[in-house]
Amino acid sequence: MKSFYEGTSALITGASSGIGREFALQLAALGSTPVLVARRKDRLEQLADEIRTKYQIEACVIAADLALPHAAAALYSHTQEAGLKPDILINNAGFGFQGAFLKGDARTYHEMTMLNITALTELTYFYLPAMVEQGKGGILNVASMAGFAPIPYFAVYAATKSYVNSLGCALWHEMKQTGVHVSTLCPGPVQTEFFQVSGARPEDLPVRNIQSAREVTEVALYALSKNEMLVPTSATLKVMHKISTIVPLKANMSTAAAFMKNK
Ligand SMILES: NC(=O)c1ccc[n+]([C@@H]2O[C@H](COP(=O)([O-])OP(=O)(O)OC[C@H]3O[C@@H](n4cnc5c(N)ncnc54)[C@H](OP(=O)(O)O)[C@@H]3O)[C@@H](O)[C@H]2O)c1
Repeated sequence: MKSFYEGTSALITGASSGIGREFALQLAALGSTPVLVARRKDRLEQLADEIRTKYQIEACVIAADLALPHAAAALYSHTQEAGLKPDILINNAGFGFQGAFLKGDARTYHEMTMLNITALTELTYFYLPAMVEQGKGGILNVASMAGFAPIPYFAVYAATKSYVNSLGCALWHEMKQTGVHVSTLCPGPVQTEFFQVSGARPEDLPVRNIQSAREVTEVALYALSKNEMLVPTSATLKVMHKISTIVPLKANMSTAAAFMKNK
């Protein structure tokens, strides 16, 4: 796995916390230079210092709100002007909202779709050509088990992650002959700030085992190095994914709703 990452540069969105932060640390440990992107610049700078001290690697910090229109194009231009050419793109930034559809507000749904869908798609579009030209590199899209099937009371978030699953798998197919790896990560509950931000509660989810960001990231980096297409991050999630393809949609949604509607 080390040889896939060593000497590369990796742009990681949502690196200021949780899974993205862990990606930055693990990639640096594997000899990749991280480019850290999120809104909270102070956190990114602290992380860059930590990486410099622990791994003697100069991480680069870019503060950006990826939910804004044209944010991906602006980030791409910024990295081009700075001479940063990522070999690896980790599309990790994302957030959710748990609750009845009409209890959420339109602005939250707008920002969620801009971040979870639009920014992810456009960053992929901008950074992929250089990878294809070089015949190597990788894109890791962080989706979720929430994208396996529609989830009432987590409706917009689940729909955004379903989009990520679909796009990621299609691009895996398109890139098969190019040498560029495309993997889509499907974690279940992970111990991060996600639950504070989304208002979701781990106890409402149908999976009892909460994974650490470290565990999920290790699975992800190994999978990307092997060009695995769709990556549920535990044995339980692999089974749940299989079940979601067999159980009739309405039955699947009734079960999901029973877990989620507590809010
Ligand atoms: N935790 C879970 O249970 C779980 C399960 C499945 C999938 N996921 C997915 O994993 C990914 C990472 O989430 P996490 O669990 O690590 O949650 P987290 O700790 O809340 O981290 C989310 C990251 O996204 C960044 N972000 C949020 N809004 C942004 C914006 N407008 N522009 C740029 N960056 C933004 C945040 O940074 P700033 O606030 O500094 O901008 C933060 O670094 C997400 O895509 C999430 O959907 C999480």
